[in-house]
Amino acid sequence: MILGVSKAPAAPPDRPPGLAKQDTLRWAAPKNLYVGSAAAGGGHHEAQDYPDPFTYDTEYRKLLAAEFSSVTPENQLKWEFVHPERGVYNFGPADEIVEFARRHNQKVRGHTLLWHSQNPAWLEEGDFTDEELREILREHIFTVVGRYKGQIHQWDVANEIFDGNGNLRTQENIWLRELGPGIIADAFRWAHEADPKAELFFNDYSVEGINAKSTAYYNLIRDLRAQGVPVHGFGVQAHLSTRWPFPADMQANLQRFDELGVATAVTELDVRMDLPGGAAPTPAQLQQQADYYRQALQACLNVAGCGSFTIWGFTDKYSWVPVFFPDQGAATVMWENFERKPAYYALQDTLLEARPGGKALREHHPAYADR
Ligand code: G3I
Repeated sequence: MILGVSKAPAAPPDRPPGLAKQDTLRWAAPKNLYVGSAAAGGGHHEAQDYPDPFTYDTEYRKLLAAEFSSVTPENQLKWEFVHPERGVYNFGPADEIVEFARRHNQKVRGHTLLWHSQNPAWLEEGDFTDEELREILREHIFTVVGRYKGQIHQWDVANEIFDGNGNLRTQENIWLRELGPGIIADAFRWAHEADPKAELFFNDYSVEGINAKSTAYYNLIRDLRAQGVPVHGFGVQAHLSTRWPFPADMQANLQRFDELGVATAVTELDVRMDLPGGAAPTPAQLQQQADYYRQALQACLNVAGCGSFTIWGFTDKYSWVPVFFPDQGAATVMWENFERKPAYYALQDTLLEARPGGKALREHHPAYADR
């Protein structure tokens, strides 16, 4: 190898045929923004009539590698998946995602360590003393965060700890119920000790705009940081619907966290629509959806510390939405056959606008000639 000679990096061997490197989201993005997707597996996929997408679908994997500079295991790092029995860890699937990300020069977001949902029965139904429970959480965090030290750059340490009124979920969340709210600071401290370089986040839905719930996070993060607790970021999931207006104050909301001194991220964006009786999306619905994707991305681009923008899956083939919301769907940026929707182009064009030289490339590069 000759040092000092600059050479374009070789194309990843598994980019889909005919897809130019320049015609992808990760390429279009400005250098200070990671563009990510959930890596599909576990959760709702287990009840579907297809094998685990991340491990099986080669076309899916090629696009995941080619289009994105960040991946988030959709379910593979959740407690019920990674820690199915007491003292038994199932790291294989998460290891594969982390290795895939390394090969494709992608960041990984870790999801999640302290949550009320998707916990294994042994934990939820176990009969533990407070000391035992605390030790179970501490051991889990050290084991999981420690395993991926240096390989997971952001962790959703605490997920969905507030309800819609901005009150802590002290009944549903086993950790808050049994150990009290002080356990939140401990979880952040333990994660920080296990990987001092990882950025540690709170993450939730319905916190895109300024409301009681996002304000509860604002106050909590401010107080924890004043006490020296290592909280570094706030993630807005952004599971949006065309049924509701776009949260117009999203940028202002991200900005107030920025001013508090923490990073922000869009962590799980999708935009579902009403499709009664399995109706096909109308052009107007697709346009509205594209507009929501564009606005969410623009809000992030306009806030200095918003460095990570992740969509919760990129193809309708594997979206959680129709499984969860009857008569709703088409929430992602690609159709089931991986063809791009208006929402894909809305993201790509918005990224290109923000990337130095991107606009000129959009006009002149052959990859865009047939648009
Ligand atoms: O636990 C039951 C099990 O008892 C039952 O036998 C089985 C039969 O279908 O279902 C199991 O529940 C599934 C669950 O995953 C646990 O594996 C649900 O049906 C399934 O809908 C669920 O899906 C996951 C969901 O999180 C659970 O909350 C999705 O795959 C995953 O995309 C989704 O991701 C969440 C983020 O983590 C947090 N933010 C919201 C986002 C969307 O819900």
